[in-house]
Amino acid sequence: MAGDDVVVRLQGVRKAFNPGLPSEVEVLHGIDLQLRRGEFCAVVGPSGSGKSTLLNLIGLLDRPTAGTLAVCGQDTTHMDDAALTHLRGRSIGFVFQYHHLIGAFTALENVMMPMLGDAGFPTRAMRERALELLGRVGLNHRCDNLATHLSGGEQQRVAVARALAMRPAVLLADEPTGNLDTRSAEVVFGLLRDVNREQGTAVLFVTHNPALAARCDRTLEVVDGLVNPQAAVAG
Ligand SMILES: Nc1ncnc2c1ncn2[C@@H]1O[C@H](COP(=O)(O)OP(=O)(O)OP(=O)(O)O)[C@@H](O)[C@H]1O
Ligand SMILES: [Mg+2]
Repeated sequence: MAGDDVVVRLQGVRKAFNPGLPSEVEVLHGIDLQLRRGEFCAVVGPSGSGKSTLLNLIGLLDRPTAGTLAVCGQDTTHMDDAALTHLRGRSIGFVFQYHHLIGAFTALENVMMPMLGDAGFPTRAMRERALELLGRVGLNHRCDNLATHLSGGEQQRVAVARALAMRPAVLLADEPTGNLDTRSAEVVFGLLRDVNREQGTAVLFVTHNPALAARCDRTLEVVDGLVNPQAAVAG
């Protein structure tokens, strides 16, 4: 059943902050879930239930305190930080609620950032790819604008372009539309949906907006650090 198309697999994943200290608190209590190539999955649940913590683990920004996490078929349990960084760079794109662009860089430079990688210097191919991505999000005409000079909706579209730079198998979007007006939210959601359909990118989309969640293929509900078991494993 679990074929090669599973891009994210969690088994019994727990996360405690401040382990071993009096302030220790376990936030995720044993999560099992699979995300397959091409799935567009909403992640919903009350504030503080553990949604961002879960995405940070899947995005290899933090490590589980128990259980196993595999990304693109690779078990991350025994990976060192360099290996995690490498896997993250090749497999995962992030879009956050706050765009995290570098304000003093142009839109084009921001989109090129993930491509610099080990080379550390920009090439013509990177520039062309970044221009193509900015075209994809409808911002060709804004490529030389500083990020700080763009509107909130435009900044978030640049963030989507940047997240797609490395053609990730998995796109993690943590309330990407949370700060946007309805129209900009629609544009950003539509972009994620199109990329998912065109490229088979698996998407985890955290939202507090029930109307947007209803337009995803599947919904994971996180409640008190656990995932609703009905929705956790599709198929
Ligand atoms: N670094 C940390 N140290 C200690 N506790 C933390 C840390 N990060 C998160 N928490 C706690 O973990 C719980 C889950 O937080 P998380 O940010 O994952 O919730 P969330 O579901 O994303 O909420 P929201 O919808 O408000 O974004 C919260 O109780 C939070 O206070
Ligand atoms: Mg959150």
